[in-house]
Amino acid sequence: MLELMGEWKRSNFCGDLGKKHVDRSVTLMGWVQSRRDHGGVIFVDLRDREGLCQIVFNPEHDPKIHQTAEQLRDEWVIAVKGTVTPRTEETVNPNLKTGEIEVMAEQVRVLNTSKVIPFLIENEVNADELLRLKYRYLDLRRPPMRDNMIFRHKVAAAVRSHLNENGFLEIETPYFTKSTPEGARDFLVPSRLNEGQFYALPQSPQTLKQTLMISGFDRYYQIVKCFRDEDLRADRQPEFTQIDMEMSFVSEDDVISTVEGMIKTVLRETKGIEVSIPFLRMPYEEAMERYGTDCPDTRFGLELKDISSIFKDSEFKVFRGAIEKGGAVKALNLKGGAEKLTRKEIDDLTEYAVSLGAKGLAWIRVGEDGWNSPIVKFLSEGEREFLAETLSMEKGDIVFFGADSVDMANQVMSNVRLSLGQTLSLIDEEKLEFLWVVDFPLLKYSPKDKRYVAVHHPFTAPKDEDMEKIENSPDDAASKSYDIVLNGVEIGGGSIRIHRKDIQQKVFDIIGIGEDEAQEKFGFLLEALEFGAPPHGGIALGLDRLLMLLSGEESIRDVIAFPKTQKGSCPLTEAPSEVDPEQLLEAGITSIAKKPEN
Ligand code: AMO
Ligand code: AMP
Repeated sequence: MLELMGEWKRSNFCGDLGKKHVDRSVTLMGWVQSRRDHGGVIFVDLRDREGLCQIVFNPEHDPKIHQTAEQLRDEWVIAVKGTVTPRTEETVNPNLKTGEIEVMAEQVRVLNTSKVIPFLIENEVNADELLRLKYRYLDLRRPPMRDNMIFRHKVAAAVRSHLNENGFLEIETPYFTKSTPEGARDFLVPSRLNEGQFYALPQSPQTLKQTLMISGFDRYYQIVKCFRDEDLRADRQPEFTQIDMEMSFVSEDDVISTVEGMIKTVLRETKGIEVSIPFLRMPYEEAMERYGTDCPDTRFGLELKDISSIFKDSEFKVFRGAIEKGGAVKALNLKGGAEKLTRKEIDDLTEYAVSLGAKGLAWIRVGEDGWNSPIVKFLSEGEREFLAETLSMEKGDIVFFGADSVDMANQVMSNVRLSLGQTLSLIDEEKLEFLWVVDFPLLKYSPKDKRYVAVHHPFTAPKDEDMEKIENSPDDAASKSYDIVLNGVEIGGGSIRIHRKDIQQKVFDIIGIGEDEAQEKFGFLLEALEFGAPPHGGIALGLDRLLMLLSGEESIRDVIAFPKTQKGSCPLTEAPSEVDPEQLLEAGITSIAKKPEN
């Protein structure tokens, strides 16, 4: 039954056919989406990249090809020659792009058969994600996944054409390189030719794009893979794609407006959406104060208030204790929320807060008969008045409190805020809220590492006026860095860089990278800075995250053709896997990993 394509050539995509093709002879090739037998006449929905088209096999026209049609099964690959015919008024399918026509089959060739598929090729799938990833080639046949891949292509193409038109040069940097510190672990690749030595896959092209500026390639970009060995989440992959850019002789404003222009064009060309620029800018301090996070979702209010000042000497140990230890008490008032949340929902929210590391989640409900709360008995008259006023507490409200170290209070309360926003549908899902967070601190003390660490990365320049502070009061030095946030997700970050060796060395010193280590790790960059490095700066956008948000997907995996699971594996290829001992030997390495017990 199987035949070859022979001299047949496809004339059209199935999904492209319409009324304007009526009476044309066409040759279509694709997959059988479904076959229906209507009293002898067989209807086949044939699918290709562009969509579906109905093929009609009428036994009265040609009994032989009708016999073939009877045998067709889902996902077989066929080629059909036929004539495009208008459907009668009653049979027009308004839900199908090609629903006004059908193709009367005149010849058919079965090019391949298919095993029974493990899940249906439909918009909604109830298969487990692992199964979808194992049969990713089938999953990618489903229209939403197909659309995501096509959208990805369109966005990348629009980015390229916008940047090309704006004088950017696309230059590739190597994947076998030295460690580039972006806060994750490196993936290492052994070098067979240099036994005992390893390349690191780049966490980003950061150091090399800076050297390209020193070469004079002002305005570089690259749509590039980056590799980070870190714990995975819905918006993180071990290998992901950046739209990476660098420019010379620029200020923060120049980089910011370049990105705004790019996003505006890309959204117009790929989604027909007009976003208004410039995007709002918010200083880091303000974002932390009002939202408890440096990537706030500004599509809804429910802002946090720091109420620490009043509770320094409070009777309520939980609040006072946190403040005494240098922490904070942060609160939010869910206006009119007292009736919207059941006691069970409050308990669940408390449990959620505890799962994030909180010691509890205090709350006060303002009911008909006054304040109802497990903590109200600990509060003085003055404290109650202060709370009522500061948080504009009125009948029907419910207020939540987090008391902890400043970081933990912020982390918990920003997530409580988000969780309430989601469960109570306070977020307008149609909105695209872009936001720049600016004026990040340059350095942050890490109690874990017992030293300062760079908040963005160690190549970020301090604000001109804060140059002195990097030595005298490192906590107070602000940096020339900026993050771009979309709907509460960080989609990009960048900075103006240090372009002088003395300052770079100073920053390395402060973050505990001594001269020898700096030389060993970044000697090439330090040396290059001495050969006429221009002032420069740039940014990288996470393409996968941007696509996830623009296509309304919950997971970054749905916009990547062959993603990894949360455990960093690929169910399709079964990577990673053990390798032949010979291969290890050749690379000069031994594995001390224990074999998993079965
Ligand atoms: P940064 O580390 O902020 O900056 O990365 C830039 C953007 O890349 C995306 N991203 C990720 N996406 C998916 N999976 C991951 N594991 C992942 N990690 C990061 C995020 C992030 O905002 N060299 C600097 C940029 C610069 O300074 O120019 C850098 O890499 O959307
Ligand atoms: P306790 O005195 O520990 O029973 O706590 C009284 C109330 O305060 C309970 O509702 C706890 O959930 C809450 N609580 C305890 N610790 C904290 C904290 N660190 N931050 C906010 N609320 C807390």
